[in-house]
Amino acid sequence: MKDTIRHLIQQALTRLTTEGVLPEGLSPTIQVENTKDKSHGDFASNIAMMLAKPASLKPRELAEKLIAALPGDEQISKVEIAGPGFLNFYQNTQALAGRLDALLADAKLGVRKAGKPQTVVVDLSSPNLAKEMHVGHLRSTIIGDAVARVLEFLGDTVIRQNHVGDWGTQFGMLLAFMEANPAAAESELADLEGFYRAAKKCFDDSAEFAERARELVVQLQAGEAECLRLWHRFNAISLSHCQQAYDRLGVKLSPADVKGESAYNAELPAIIEALRAKGLLSESDGAQCVFMDEFKNAEGNPLPVIVQKAGGGYLYATTDLAAMRYRSQVLKADRALYFVDQRQALHFQMAFEVARRAGFVHPGMQLEHMGFGTMNGADGRPFKTRDGGTVKLIDLLDEAEERAYSLVKGKNPELDESELRSIAHAVGIGAVKYADLSKHRTSDYRFNFEQMLSFEGNTAPYLLYAYTRVASVFRKLGNSSLAGQIALEAEQELALAGKLAQLGEVLNNVADKGEPHLLCAYLYDLAGLFSSFYEHCPILAAEDQATQQSRLRLAALTGRTLKQGLELLGLETLERM
Ligand code: ARG
Repeated sequence: MKDTIRHLIQQALTRLTTEGVLPEGLSPTIQVENTKDKSHGDFASNIAMMLAKPASLKPRELAEKLIAALPGDEQISKVEIAGPGFLNFYQNTQALAGRLDALLADAKLGVRKAGKPQTVVVDLSSPNLAKEMHVGHLRSTIIGDAVARVLEFLGDTVIRQNHVGDWGTQFGMLLAFMEANPAAAESELADLEGFYRAAKKCFDDSAEFAERARELVVQLQAGEAECLRLWHRFNAISLSHCQQAYDRLGVKLSPADVKGESAYNAELPAIIEALRAKGLLSESDGAQCVFMDEFKNAEGNPLPVIVQKAGGGYLYATTDLAAMRYRSQVLKADRALYFVDQRQALHFQMAFEVARRAGFVHPGMQLEHMGFGTMNGADGRPFKTRDGGTVKLIDLLDEAEERAYSLVKGKNPELDESELRSIAHAVGIGAVKYADLSKHRTSDYRFNFEQMLSFEGNTAPYLLYAYTRVASVFRKLGNSSLAGQIALEAEQELALAGKLAQLGEVLNNVADKGEPHLLCAYLYDLAGLFSSFYEHCPILAAEDQATQQSRLRLAALTGRTLKQGLELLGLETLERM
C-alpha cells in the first residue's frame, strides 16, 4: 500500500513540475507512514512540508495543489490535509477487504520481496569448538536463524555458514591432554567444558605440558597425521554437541553448513601474497599489517589489521578475508550478513574495507555486520552461574523447559504427561528464543526467566496462546472450510484488517535491516487487535451468515499470519495449550 501511495505522489510531483509549480530537478525521498490514530486516515505523508520551501508556497497550499494533482486510485477513498500540511490517505475498505481475500488464497500470504532476489550468505552461530557452546552464541544462532528464514521466505537463496573456531593455539593444549590421557575417551569428552578446564589446569601447572602443547600446535599446523587424527576426533565430538543444541532449539543448521576457520588454511598464504601484490602490506614489529587512513586510535595513531604474526602464524582477520573471498568468488553471494557480537564491530569494519581494497569481493557485494549486544543476567550484570562460571547453553534450555512444564501443569493439571512435555518444550524453548528476538538487536539484553515465561506482554507464551485462541474458533465450529468474502464494517475489523495487510512490508524490513524484533512487534500488535476484534465482533454468534463468513475469514487469516510469523522466528506453534 505504501508503495502505491508513493507512486501516486510521485505522479503528482511530476505533474506539478511540468506545470511549473515545483522547480525542476527535485528528487525527494517520499515518506509514507502508517498513522497511529485511524480517525486521521490510514497513511500519512509529510511531502508537502518537505517541498514547501523549494516551491515557495505554504505547506498547506502545496498540499492542496498536490491533492488536486493526485491521480485517482480505487484503493484510496479520500485524501485530506491535516495539521501543518500532512497528507492523510484513507484506504478504500472494499479494496482492502478484496486484498485480504487474495492473501488468504495465496500460500505465501501475498508476501513478495521488494527488490530482486539475491544470494545471501548468513554467517551465524560460529562457536569456538575448543569449548562447549555457551550462552554467548545463543544470540548469533537464533537471530541469524530467524533472519535466514525470512530471507528464504522472501525468495532469496540463503547459504548458511557456520564459521566455527576450530583452529588456533588452544587446540595444542587439548591435543596434549588427549595424548597424556589416552583413556580420556568418550566419557570425558562428553563434558567438553570439564575437559577444557582439566587441560587448562595442566597447561598452567606444568611447564612440560605447556611446552608439549606448543609443539603439538606446530605439528598440527604442519599437518602431522596423529595430531590431525586427534584434532578431527575432538572437533567431531564438539560439533555433535553443537548439533544437539541446534536440534533442540529448532534452528535450521546442519553439519553441511559448517565451514570453520580451518577450511581456509590452504588459502591463507595466497591472501598474504595478494595483499602484497596490491601494495597494501606493511611490516610492523615483524608482523604483516594493513594500515588504512580512516582507522586510527584515540591518540590518532594508525590501527593495524594484522594478517600475519612475526612467527608466520595467521590470524582471525586473515581467515575472515579468505572467507569473504570464498563467499564472493565461489558462493557468488550478492550479500553477506555477519551475526556476531557487537564488540567485533571494528574488526568487521576494517576487514570489510581490506577485502574491498584487495578486490577479494566484487564491488557490488553488500557486507553487513549484524552486531548484537551482550546477554546479561536478570540483574543486568554479565550472565554467569552462581559460582561465576559461564552458563552452558544446555543447562539454560533444561531450566527453561522445566519452568515451562510447571507453569503449564499448574494451568492444565488434567493434560497427560506426554502432551505436557511437548507443550513445555514449545513454550520453554520458544520463550528463550522469543525473548531474545523481540529485543532490539544491538542493545544489551537481560535474560529473565520470569518475564519471558509470562502470559502477559510481548512474550512467546502470550503469542502461542493467542494462536491457540484462533485455532479454537475453528475447533468449536468443527469445520474449517471458508466461504463468502471479507466485508469490513466494525472499527475492530478495520483495525485488524489494516494490520493483516502489512505482513509483506514488515518482512521486507526484517530482511533489509536484519532485525527480527520488527516481526515480533508486528505479531504482538496483531494478537492484540485480534483480541479486541474477538471481543467485539461475535463469530459463532454472528448476526447472519455472511457476517460470520467474513469474520471467519479474518480469523483464518490472522491464524495463518501468526503461525507463519512465528515459524519465521523459529517458534513452534501449538493447536492448544
Ligand atoms: N568464533 C567467533 C567467536 O566466537 C565468531 C565468528 C564469527 N564469524 C566470522 N566470520 N568471523 O567470537
